[in-house]
Amino acid sequence: MAKLGMFASLIALCAVFGIATTSSPAESADACVRKDFKTELVKNACAKGGQAEAKDQMKAFMKDKKIKSCNQCHSKLAPSYDLKPDGQKQYTDAGGK
Ligand code: HEC
Repeated sequence: MAKLGMFASLIALCAVFGIATTSSPAESADACVRKDFKTELVKNACAKGGQAEAKDQMKAFMKDKKIKSCNQCHSKLAPSYDLKPDGQKQYTDAGGK
């Protein structure tokens, strides 16, 4: 009987994890702080994988454009990623969409 109980709780656990992994990443704890996006890159990244994905995309963008520091456009990094007054402009000037 004890074995059966353990089996049942295993199934219950699987069900819980199943639900957890099917929920959208945009709704998870590390969703982007922005709700109103000015760029396609970040908008798509946030929809796909939240802040972690946005961060990866930003890193790739920076490397591509040979920009050296996140702080060139951001006045603050995690968790708010505030932009400098010209952060947005710098992004589009560098060729970002
Ligand atoms: C050329 C300017 C520029 C540089 C350099 C830059 N960013 Fe950004 N970043 C932006 C802009 C502009 C946005 C807002 C995009 C929007 O509104 O769609 C943004 C948004 C983000 C977001 C989304 C935040 C949120 O939750 O809404 C993250 C995360 C981020 N940047 C991380 C980084 C990291 C990490 C680096 C360094 C590796 C970096 N950025 C370098 C311009 C830049």
